[in-house]
Amino acid sequence: MRPRRDPSSRDLSSHCHGPVTLTYYRELMSRIAVVPGSFDPVTLGHLDVIGRAAGIFDEVHVLVVHNPGKTALLPIAQRVSLIEQAVRDAGLLGSITVTSWTVGLLVDYCTEVGASVIVKGIRSQVDVAYETPMAIVNRDLAGVETVFMLPNPAHAHVSSSLVRQVAALGGDVSPYVPTAVSDFLKSPAVE
Ligand code: PNS
Repeated sequence: MRPRRDPSSRDLSSHCHGPVTLTYYRELMSRIAVVPGSFDPVTLGHLDVIGRAAGIFDEVHVLVVHNPGKTALLPIAQRVSLIEQAVRDAGLLGSITVTSWTVGLLVDYCTEVGASVIVKGIRSQVDVAYETPMAIVNRDLAGVETVFMLPNPAHAHVSSSLVRQVAALGGDVSPYVPTAVSDFLKSPAVE
């Protein structure tokens, strides 16, 4: 676990001027955000939200979480790998870590890495209704706030479940997903 420094534990009076103060305040203001989801597979809408989060927060952790309510297409390690490729191919700036969390609560991961914010992409009122209870429970459980982020409206109709369905029936998913994903889904290894 990465300890976050308690501001009240440090006497600032000797650091009133100069670069030390600046560095210290930057550290205090450092914010880690977690962008969680099933990402089965990652879509252009997800990538858009990840890029926006990376432009706002100091560190972004893209976290692949198993959702027991959904039937998975891809193994979790494959989803992580595809997100890594997509982030790299998109040349996204900022400090982005891609990983997975398969045991315990999402907020346990947040506490583990010192993340104070969860970022969720919101495409419609349906997403607001789905995400709001989770956001409140996550705040109740661990004091982690959720920020709802609006993706580019061009991606408003795109979902992983739609991509899974189109791919399963042999359709072209390239308008909806990063190239790494459409190439992977076209490969013979994927049925
Ligand atoms: O992409 P999804 O499937 O909509 O993502 C939902 C997900 C995986 C982020 C959500 O189900 C989740 O947070 N699961 C982790 C388990 C957890 O912490 N549950 C309590 C949240 S209220």
